[in-house]
Amino acid sequence: MTSETSTGQDTTHTGNGRAQTGVHIDPSAVKTGRPDRSLSDVPDPVIECKGVDIFYGSFRAVSDVTMLFGRNEITALIGPSGCGKSTLLRSLNRMNDLIEGARVAGVIAYHGQDMYADDVDPIEVRRKIGMVFQKPNPFPKSIYDNVAYGPRVTGMKVDSMDDLVEEVLTRAALWDEVKDKLGQSAYGLSGGQQQRLCIARTIATRPEVILMDEPCSALDPIATAKIEDLMHELRDDYTIVVVTHNMQQAARVADRTAFFTARPDEQTGDRTGMLVEFDRTTVLFTKPADKRTEDYISGRFG
Ligand SMILES: Nc1ncnc2c1ncn2[C@@H]1O[C@H](COP(=O)(O)OP(=O)(O)OP(=O)(O)O)[C@@H](O)[C@H]1O
Ligand SMILES: [Mg+2]
Repeated sequence: MTSETSTGQDTTHTGNGRAQTGVHIDPSAVKTGRPDRSLSDVPDPVIECKGVDIFYGSFRAVSDVTMLFGRNEITALIGPSGCGKSTLLRSLNRMNDLIEGARVAGVIAYHGQDMYADDVDPIEVRRKIGMVFQKPNPFPKSIYDNVAYGPRVTGMKVDSMDDLVEEVLTRAALWDEVKDKLGQSAYGLSGGQQQRLCIARTIATRPEVILMDEPCSALDPIATAKIEDLMHELRDDYTIVVVTHNMQQAARVADRTAFFTARPDEQTGDRTGMLVEFDRTTVLFTKPADKRTEDYISGRFG
């Protein structure tokens, strides 16, 4: 990633609580690590990050990220521990707002609208951009009520909750395994089933984007394969961003991959996360433009 970026308009931000609309990145001006390539082939970007810094108090955890997330694509975020993958992911649906002292600077736009603008309701952002966490975290409720929870609390208009629950569990490739025990506690499910339930719970409120933070790291290879299959299925209808430590997983599921690393900040010496390279997954894994990417992927593959 070079610093050679531009937008359709001047967009300078200092943090939360500012008004900004009509923000678009000119993708042809955003270079990947490869000089002959740009982000201009990212189709119909749903989320755009421009010059994004993310702070915890005075600590800058993520520095100057510019990238796009294309509709109906799976984008993987990879890189060593502490390089800010989860931090960036949480900023894409304002989940970081819930962490005291967390602050975003730069622009994160959803359909061209600054999602941190004053008039944007973070709850509505999180309804449109759902999140699945590393550790399956079903509610201490029945399987049925886990799925119905989101539609109920958001006051979603639903003709038949039974139909919605069936549709969503089917979509999450879990229906056949749970249809005879919908009233039982979600805690009685295996880890892999719980994670698929969490995905079902997320899609029940009809989001457009699903953010996943290492969704398979607590799962065995069979459950992992099921989630990966499910991600492929869901890609037809959703835009997915997934953080993974498993590079084979990124190579298997992602259309595009962003490699991040952490380097000491020039001023403070703190290790701050930065985007090194963002490209089609096949290109990033076979012909990385940046030596740091190459070192990381070849180190892991031996
Ligand atoms: N809630 C928080 N408060 C303060 N600092 C935080 C918080 N969460 C993360 N950090 C710091 O921000 C930096 C990036 O952390 P983050 O969790 O985003 O990294 P990561 O790439 O997801 O790492 P991992 O691969 O280990 O999950 C780290 O230095 C971390 O210590
Ligand atoms: Mg993380």
